[in-house]
Amino acid sequence: SFEIRIASSGAVLPVAADESVSSVLVRHGFAIPVSCEQGVCGTCLTGILSGEPDHRDLCLSDEERARNDQFTPCCSRAKGKLLVLDL
Ligand code: FES
Repeated sequence: SFEIRIASSGAVLPVAADESVSSVLVRHGFAIPVSCEQGVCGTCLTGILSGEPDHRDLCLSDEERARNDQFTPCCSRAKGKLLVLDL
């Protein structure tokens, strides 16, 4: 498991091993648009300000993934303990 921090509010939200980042965000009131929930469509793309995502999508290019400045919260996770999201 890991945590996400909401940059605008400083709120830190835990993400359990059995839930997605997007479901945590929606549960806490963030209107993250979600469609495929499989990393295919890119609808849920969310900016990252700090931390290294564990990209599990199928829509970003290798270059886009290497920048580590956005990820798909419907399926991607974190390699470290914390991701700071541009929300
Ligand atoms: Fe389709 Fe996340 S909802 S990539």
